[in-house]
Amino acid sequence: MDLITHQNISVLKIINSKINEVDFNNLAFGNVFSDYMFECNFKEGTWQDAIIKPFGPLTISPAAKVFHYGQAVFEGMKAYKDENGTIWLFRPEENFIRINKSSKRLAIPEFPRELFFEALQTLLNLDKEWIKTGLGNSLYIRPFVIATQSGVSASPSDEYKFMILLSPAQSYYSSDVKVVIAESYSRAADGGVGAIKAAGNYAAQFYPTNLAKEKGYQQIIWTDANEHKYLEEAGTMNVFFRVNDTLLTAPNNDRILDGITRKSVIALAERAGITIEVRRITVSEIVSASNDGSLKEIFGSGTAAVISPVSVFSYKDKVYHLPPTTNGFASRFKKELMEIQYNLAEDPFGWRYKVN
Ligand code: COI
Repeated sequence: MDLITHQNISVLKIINSKINEVDFNNLAFGNVFSDYMFECNFKEGTWQDAIIKPFGPLTISPAAKVFHYGQAVFEGMKAYKDENGTIWLFRPEENFIRINKSSKRLAIPEFPRELFFEALQTLLNLDKEWIKTGLGNSLYIRPFVIATQSGVSASPSDEYKFMILLSPAQSYYSSDVKVVIAESYSRAADGGVGAIKAAGNYAAQFYPTNLAKEKGYQQIIWTDANEHKYLEEAGTMNVFFRVNDTLLTAPNNDRILDGITRKSVIALAERAGITIEVRRITVSEIVSASNDGSLKEIFGSGTAAVISPVSVFSYKDKVYHLPPTTNGFASRFKKELMEIQYNLAEDPFGWRYKVN
């Protein structure tokens, strides 16, 4: 499906591109930004002043509510370029729906659909040289909304900024991931904001993740906040477990992010006739499966991480190694997803969106 362009956005052109300063073969995730960014303000009850302008600093009151109460949400998407130079997005409608779901939960006004797609379309065309061809290269798209009203009363802001930044990307994790299963800290609680992309969900993980990093692990697999008994998600990724030939993943609920890559993996598994169980998974069944050799794979799924295999997990200070696999479920789903994303295969699900 093609994106529709409307004419609601002003464009302020750059004088010189920064692109020649960038080493596209050595990109750390999320450190380099393209020439342009999109900005739109919410004030007097409406979204207005949509503009694409050179990437650069903002001037915001230090009393803006985002700094005091964390009223901020975001999304993660990617644009891909095929060998003919055509630019593609993967299921962008899902990101649009989810950012508004996130906004609604944090009392932020929803953003109009037409403007969201016009912004993406216009921005990606202006910065198309920043999308490199080749499997694994992409332009990470970061839409986000922040509360900009000045004032420290603890109430929703009357003013917001919706912005989109673009960052050329390669892989998020350069090799297999080592994870710790959470025993005391929690990411999300029933009735909370775990299912949405609230900025604070990520900040709350930094300290426990630092503790894990000190021990040589990159990520935490979060467990339920009540008993730390059920496996939930990894914070930057949803998680899948392969026990013998059955694929297991936790069901969506108000603690687990409704991942777009997650639901795509489930659809690919169903298409392949793989037995998949979307249900609560206990830590103890995964530990037992590791001990008796039936645990074959653990992998994470996410926009940034795509599919990231886990090689080691630790629980209660015991270390469990996953058997080495080269042609397991993780590599199969990664290949199938990327072939759809890069326009190298048929797209039977209608997931690919062409950017004109
Ligand atoms: C994404 O996959 O887009 C994420 O949200 C992960 C991000 C925190 C790097």
